[in-house]
Amino acid sequence: MRKKVVAGNWKMNLDIEQGKKLVNEILAGMPQLGDEHKVIICPPFIHLQQTAQLTVAANRVYTGAQNCYTEASGAYTGEVSAAMVKSTGALFVILGHSERREYFNETNEMLAKKVNTALENNLQIIFCCGEPLEIRDACTQNQYVEQQIIDGLFHLDAEQLSHVTIAYEPIWAIGTGRTATTEQAQDMHAHIRSVIAGRYGKEVADSTSILYGGSCKPSNAPELFACPDVDGGLIGGASLNAADFHGIINAMVEQ
Ligand code: 13P
Repeated sequence: MRKKVVAGNWKMNLDIEQGKKLVNEILAGMPQLGDEHKVIICPPFIHLQQTAQLTVAANRVYTGAQNCYTEASGAYTGEVSAAMVKSTGALFVILGHSERREYFNETNEMLAKKVNTALENNLQIIFCCGEPLEIRDACTQNQYVEQQIIDGLFHLDAEQLSHVTIAYEPIWAIGTGRTATTEQAQDMHAHIRSVIAGRYGKEVADSTSILYGGSCKPSNAPELFACPDVDGGLIGGASLNAADFHGIINAMVEQ
């Protein structure tokens, strides 16, 4: 059956020493994880090698990047390739986060290329999707998210898709304290799963993990993770505090 996953997206926070301290605190208090669980820590690029070295001996705890570039190498000042990410020891990469789409103009077309280069370099992908508030207000969120998934992922075959975890993050819930209701989360996750089933079949859809992200905290994680199609969370702010992150991981373990 599909994995339960809690991933922490540190975004642009913490220097090297602060990062080391946080990873050590996270590892020190880590709840007992089962075969069906994964915890992924996604710090800024500069932390990847250190975080990968600290997590390598920890059971079922992995390191991921927050982005990678579309191209393999060359004159792209400031960018980092999928191969470079892989060489740090990181095994995962987040692609298509709404902040990348919004502030760095990442299009679905670019993201499809990033998905390809990540897979070519044997990285596992956390592929983000989610609608802005005006789309939610217009009640067209299902079509909007479906298009993101079609454009970003549907060129993959089923084997390639097995290396992808999807994260649904409604933009209006990110960093706002306004979490989606369990009904909103479950409805969208079920929709995403049906979209995947339509292209790849039920078996593939049932084995794809779909995470919720957006103001997820220890207090609301248990009810969100209890939804049948919510397989864990992609955590921003609360992943920067070891106790909060543990609380959310506990919510996954106790399901
Ligand atoms: P918050 O948990 O801070 O709302 O961020 C969610 C997110 O964007 C994770 O990628």
